[in-house]
Amino acid sequence: MTAAFDSRTQEAYDRLATLVALVRVDGICLMVNTALENTLHQSRRKLTGSNAFEWFAEPTPMREALQRVADQTVMTSRLQASLHFHPSGPSDLPVHVCVSPAPSDGPLPIVLVEMTETEQQARLEREEHANDLIEAHKQLLRNLAHEIKNPLGGIRGAAQLLALDAASREVSEYTDVVIHEVDRLQTLVDRLLAPHQGAPARARLNIHEVCERVRMLVLAEFARGLQIQRDYDASLPDLIGDRERLIQALLNIVRNAAQALSQRIAQGDARIVLRTRIARQATLGGRRHRLAIQIDVEDNGPGVPHALRERIFQPLVSGRAGGSGLGLTLAQTYVQQHGGIIECDSVPGQTRFTLLLPLADSR
Ligand SMILES: Nc1ncnc2c1ncn2[C@@H]1O[C@H](COP(=O)(O)OP(=O)(O)OP(=O)(O)O)[C@@H](O)[C@H]1O
Ligand SMILES: [Mg+2]
Repeated sequence: MTAAFDSRTQEAYDRLATLVALVRVDGICLMVNTALENTLHQSRRKLTGSNAFEWFAEPTPMREALQRVADQTVMTSRLQASLHFHPSGPSDLPVHVCVSPAPSDGPLPIVLVEMTETEQQARLEREEHANDLIEAHKQLLRNLAHEIKNPLGGIRGAAQLLALDAASREVSEYTDVVIHEVDRLQTLVDRLLAPHQGAPARARLNIHEVCERVRMLVLAEFARGLQIQRDYDASLPDLIGDRERLIQALLNIVRNAAQALSQRIAQGDARIVLRTRIARQATLGGRRHRLAIQIDVEDNGPGVPHALRERIFQPLVSGRAGGSGLGLTLAQTYVQQHGGIIECDSVPGQTRFTLLLPLADSR
């Protein structure tokens, strides 16, 4: 290895979710990152020194792209290609390739080859677009919530004064309605503004304490006909984070599951499973993490309504009578504040929400 890719550079490349290699213009591979090692199912020792053109189903376009960049005909070259595996291995993997120049202190030019799985790239773009949209909605709602919050106190106070003066029972019934509705709006507005009040705490916590607290709260609310099974990996390491916010996030998800199970609760066979596991090499928000904590919340309810599937994380989207559609938005905000994500996979009879939280010291 030359000074150009010392251990610090290697470590930086290893953190990336994209597949990266440094390749000499004649095709000899000088360095690969962990993501590429995992994708090609070969160790970096074996890959370093091998001919990178042979990784591809069609080597010629790669050879030409490298040459063009090395000759400085173009600054970067982008192309679609397919990674090729051993005949007995997985089928070819379509990738989007970007080739750009890298510093070289040897006689031959070196290029940086970055690859993203075509499907993954499309998924990332879709996710990014959805997240941008949700962010814009949230911002709009926060602004609106601020505007609504200010006059609420005044309306409530005035209604209370009216109630004191009210001569007839009829009037005080009206003022009660006003006060009740103002309180409902106040709760909604507070929930909209809550996740942005103050930075999240950073304390050492055990995820099972969070799970147990949530389990107890939900069992207290749904006292009969609901079973919450635990399937914990007791060896999980502690996490640095905000205990209260993580409890709130998980509580919103488990409560949704319990609410979706109303019919089965009546029959007595409603079941939620709370599962914890370690996740390796998780890509969260475009960043690769060596280790993450995974929490699955599984229920045997009817599943997320089809029409809502793509939108459940958006604010004010609800399929439940009396639901405000903020539970999952809040949960997602809290989990994102920890660098994590929430995913959902739902078919009738089995709905799974998965929280992935990176372990801070494992990047
Ligand atoms: N486990 C689940 N099974 C079926 N549907 C679900 C599940 N979890 C969420 N949903 C659907 O997603 C919608 C949005 O959930 P969210 O928690 O954001 O809002 P809500 O529960 O309607 O209201 P809030 O949580 O603010 O009181 C729910 O109304 C429900 O239709
Ligand atoms: Mg909810």
